[in-house]
Amino acid sequence: MNGSPILATRGLVKRFGGVAAVDGVDLAVMAGEIRCLIGPNGAGKSTLFKCLTHQHQPTSGHVLFNGRDLRGLPTHRIARLGIAIKNQIPSVYANLSVRENIRLAALPRGLAKRELGKVVELTLNEIGFDDPLAKQSAATLSHAHRQWCELGMLLASNPRLALLDEPTAGMTRDEMLKTVDIIKRLNAHATVIVVEHDLEFIARLAQRVTVLHRGRVLVEDTMDKIEANETVRDIYLGRKKEIVHAQG
Ligand SMILES: Nc1ncnc2c1ncn2[C@@H]1O[C@H](COP(=O)(O)OP(=O)(O)OP(=O)(O)O)[C@@H](O)[C@H]1O
Ligand SMILES: [Mg+2]
Repeated sequence: MNGSPILATRGLVKRFGGVAAVDGVDLAVMAGEIRCLIGPNGAGKSTLFKCLTHQHQPTSGHVLFNGRDLRGLPTHRIARLGIAIKNQIPSVYANLSVRENIRLAALPRGLAKRELGKVVELTLNEIGFDDPLAKQSAATLSHAHRQWCELGMLLASNPRLALLDEPTAGMTRDEMLKTVDIIKRLNAHATVIVVEHDLEFIARLAQRVTVLHRGRVLVEDTMDKIEANETVRDIYLGRKKEIVHAQG
């Protein structure tokens, strides 16, 4: 890890009609960091991610990647600079096998055929897929395996910065723990920003946590401090715990 932010936003705003989904966000994420982004439903987390990759054009403000202003760049150029995103809805090529999906994700790296093959097999190993699973068509995967396939695609593309939007949604605790391991492997080479609701997942991964509320950064701190923060408890964690209690 070095001391410079790999990603910074300044006064980032995204409006949909009259609604500011992202409302003046200043963010600085250091190279090598795993940052968790939390906040209640509708806080603007996914919109913020999509502004970083220009899936949404920001209404105003700046996104700086390694100090470079991304303004005006199309999504594919941003991907080529090394920012990869796993959106909230998994996107894999349903008709292709897992191995083919991962191979496709690694292709833009321009590796020699042999090297490419090695990367694909190493990635399958990193997501814990044996050969029968690797041969399975992505359409037939379980929910968790589809998420891991997509994480494998991200690993294989070797990004500098990975944006993960709710990678453990709908997973069991064991599946969540496996996902934590995969993300740690991803973090060996990439800075990671992850949106999550699962508090144990966040506690296991995050160095710093940013809380978004109504499109703004409410607070940014370690998970311990965030959990103890009264305002955060009121708008998010407390309510979440009540929901967990009510269900359990
Ligand atoms: N394409 C869009 N058009 C209009 N409004 C949108 C669009 N995308 C998001 N919004 C609105 O922007 C706000 C933020 O939505 P966003 O999906 O970013 O929240 P979120 O924090 O990711 O929520 P969740 O935890 O439910 O995924 C919401 O009020 C939402 O209705
Ligand atoms: Mg979202």
